[in-house]
Amino acid sequence: MHDTIVVLDFGSQYAQLIARSIREENVFCELLPWNTPAESVLTLNPKGYILSGGPASVYSSRAPQVPEYVFQSQVPILGVCYGMQALTHSMGGEVAPSAKQEYGHAALQVERSNPLLPAGIYQVWMSHGDRIERLPEGFRILAHTDNSPIAAMGDPSRDYYGVQFHPEVRHTNKGKDILARFVIQICGAEPDWTPYSIIHESVQKIRDRVGKERVLSAVSGGVDSSVATALVHKAVGDQLHAVFVDTGLLRKGETEQVITTFRDHIGVQLHPAHAVEDFLSDLKGVTDPEKKRALIGNRFIRIFEEQAQALEMPKYLVQGTIYPDVVESQGHDRSQVARIKTHHNVGGLPEEMDFELIEPLRYLFKDEVRRIGISLGLPPHIVWRQPFPGPGLAIRVIGEVTWERLERLRAADAIFLDELREADLLRLKTRSDDSVSRKGPRGTAQAFAVLLPVQSVGVMGDKRTYQDVIALRAVTTDDFMTADWARLPQDLLAEIGSRIVNEVEGINRVVYDITSKPPGTIEWE
Ligand code: XMP
Repeated sequence: MHDTIVVLDFGSQYAQLIARSIREENVFCELLPWNTPAESVLTLNPKGYILSGGPASVYSSRAPQVPEYVFQSQVPILGVCYGMQALTHSMGGEVAPSAKQEYGHAALQVERSNPLLPAGIYQVWMSHGDRIERLPEGFRILAHTDNSPIAAMGDPSRDYYGVQFHPEVRHTNKGKDILARFVIQICGAEPDWTPYSIIHESVQKIRDRVGKERVLSAVSGGVDSSVATALVHKAVGDQLHAVFVDTGLLRKGETEQVITTFRDHIGVQLHPAHAVEDFLSDLKGVTDPEKKRALIGNRFIRIFEEQAQALEMPKYLVQGTIYPDVVESQGHDRSQVARIKTHHNVGGLPEEMDFELIEPLRYLFKDEVRRIGISLGLPPHIVWRQPFPGPGLAIRVIGEVTWERLERLRAADAIFLDELREADLLRLKTRSDDSVSRKGPRGTAQAFAVLLPVQSVGVMGDKRTYQDVIALRAVTTDDFMTADWARLPQDLLAEIGSRIVNEVEGINRVVYDITSKPPGTIEWE
């Protein structure tokens, strides 16, 4: 078992970032709601606790409390923002609303050099209304900012610390180092959560569980299902059968790419099911986006069932569930969100089928999934693939989906993506990437072409044209909940526009979408 750090989530929008930062230090860490039953937490035998931020005020009647077992465990504790206030409150200190809310950058001055914060000045990110008025017994002030006399506090003899700022967000410049010092030096956690160990242990676990049984998997070409399939294949080899449903709704060259990668490169027994005509006949005459989604989802399930039956129903089914899906579904009620689109994946498999699930990525964040994918030998174009919606191009051909319109969109989309790839903009670079110049574009988190159900007049070689319009969509985003349109270089857009009009038959106009989300969504349907 790996040394584990537990992050107790008090409802912070940044809690996942804390867990991810710690995993990046190769330390295993679990993110759990603050009110998880003590037994479930204690079985993990945590080497330390981090108490996340949260929206509450400790003195309100229903404010979440630091659970008693955290103190009884006698391991290091780090409270972040609300976590620091809750720690203070639980230990007899005093928290009160501050006259001035503090939000944004601040300069943190360390008063006493200590294991968490060596002497110096740090750029930190603050976001709080309450502040510590009186320290709990045994604590000392470690650092202050102009607005917060107690911006960090600690009792190094017990390894208890609190910081008012957010070390997990990138605006805190040495935040990752602070978290690393807490988990490695202060908690003494072993940094042994590496791709090699993850693969090695998963392979062993899957083998032990599966024995001689057969396993089924559905690959779509997406990152998660691809990595999960490659991992299970490493564990059970030819006991794995992967089904690939060719819907005809993928981008240019993708069907062949998926088949070649899995069959020839990884050596998986891949069963492609050619179902293009089925999908197209379902979609005939349909223009409503939600109806398209439902029809595609249902057809997918039918075809998958047929394939499973043809393979005499293996006992196990691989699912590419990843840690954020698990975290989202546990604990906090985030269900009160208005439904904008039904995002059921194609790949959302039939519930009534009687499989036992293998979810080898259940504990992994997306960046860890990618690292594992690379280690397993998956090619970069799969591992670094941008998200692609389950219903595929059907929701990017606005209006009726026909083969001819799909092909037109595919051709335009391929030009767009080629040009972005060439300009090294098909990936969203993080701030820490050396390759990002301060002023240059950060790349794109998602980029694609959309075929509009609109004709416009143009002129080509002195002749009037009346043809389709392509919209280009490219966004930057970290979480896909909000997004900004990508500020692509104008010369690049010019080149893309002219190539599409010149090379794709039936298109005489290209427009660039400059809507952010909200109020727009990323996809057009
Ligand atoms: P929106 O358009 O809602 O998209 O801003 C947010 C993210 O979700 C993807 N998306 C889908 N993914 N099935 C999926 O698997 C869907 O029906 C679907 N609709 C949107 C979209 O590509 C973006 O990454």
